[in-house]
Amino acid sequence: MFAPKSWPDGYHDTFGDTGVDLHEFKKVGEIRQFREGRGRSVKIGGTTIAVFRRGDRFYAFGDRCVHMGASLADGTLVGETVQCSWHGWQYDLKTGQSESKEWACIPIYEVRVKGDEVYVGLPEADAEKSR
Ligand code: FES
Repeated sequence: MFAPKSWPDGYHDTFGDTGVDLHEFKKVGEIRQFREGRGRSVKIGGTTIAVFRRGDRFYAFGDRCVHMGASLADGTLVGETVQCSWHGWQYDLKTGQSESKEWACIPIYEVRVKGDEVYVGLPEADAEKSR
């Protein structure tokens, strides 16, 4: 599904490819800290990110529902979407696009795993804010 790339030894891409440089990736925890099918809210600098684990795949996106600001880490993975726990809005895991509101979208972040450590890549603008 995702094109193989030549990451430094030990890294593998678990989701997405937004062209983020590896040095912009920040560790958000160890695999064992993420429960199967559940979300966990993590902070990188001033950016709050929801990280979900499904098997050996991880997903990361902005932890704020566009509707009324609920934490999406409290939501549920439904197929290829995350569903907000408050009023059920769903966002595509690959694009961040709302299923029902054309104007609503959440940021999606790349995730990489090295050994048992999970890393999330921030776009340059967000990475600047996290320094
Ligand atoms: S706050 Fe998420 S659907 Fe309403």
